[in-house]
Amino acid sequence: DDPSADPFEVARTAAAELAERTGVDRHDIALTLGSGWGKAADLIGETTHTIPATEITGFGKPALEGHVGTLRSVLLPSGKRALVIGARTHYYEGHGVRRVVHSVRTAAAAGASVMILTNGAGGIREHWTPGTPVLIRDHINLTADSPLEGATFVDLTDLYAQRLRDIAHAIEPGLDEGVYTQFRGPHYETPAEVQMAKTIGGDIVGMSTALEAIAARQSGMEILGMTLITNLAAGIQATPLSHQEVIDAGREAEPVISSLLARIVAEL
Ligand code: 6GU
Repeated sequence: DDPSADPFEVARTAAAELAERTGVDRHDIALTLGSGWGKAADLIGETTHTIPATEITGFGKPALEGHVGTLRSVLLPSGKRALVIGARTHYYEGHGVRRVVHSVRTAAAAGASVMILTNGAGGIREHWTPGTPVLIRDHINLTADSPLEGATFVDLTDLYAQRLRDIAHAIEPGLDEGVYTQFRGPHYETPAEVQMAKTIGGDIVGMSTALEAIAARQSGMEILGMTLITNLAAGIQATPLSHQEVIDAGREAEPVISSLLARIVAEL
């Protein structure tokens, strides 16, 4: 959190610690598992190391129940290595955007060329019932912040790589795509804000992922984004939203969507 520190240097330190703790000098892909996606860690391969994130440089304490707070090194059947990040820092925690994207930069420093970002979020399209997985096609960042500092101009065309989306579609024909809108949170949106998101082209409202995707692109990684629709957004569904509803929907959909993600990872 030292503002004079170079965030990429901090990430390289974290990656070196991971390499030392695991004996694995290179992780090929990285996955951040959000609400409902946690089981994928067990399905993609064999976990050889589980490290509490707080023991690695730059990672803070998990803020939320249901967020695991570990980093896992997983050996895939293909022989590749996955880094599973069960320790996400949300922007709304107020630690600043550097902390939010530290895990992504650590994954890049560990050698990952593919970054899989998952989350649970609210749906704007009425036909998306809770439990529906949606591939992120693009995003709208409404945080008014950026992980980039200074005159760092980064192109965000094809941010959520068409190549990776094609692989997902081949595995799950009919999988929906949508535009993820990142709000700051932690309050849910008003119905008027949800209408705004819909009007400007959003399909999903959430509190993560977009800032992480920007950092992943800056580091040259290919990105796959997936949302579990845990509820419909305010004004789209008639009843008030509750965090418990989000947790419950995640738990219920977890076996199905985690298996979907594992089948995608096997093809990367
Ligand atoms: Cl409706 N909005 C946001 N921003 N995040 C969510 C959500 C809604 N439902 C689950 N996560």
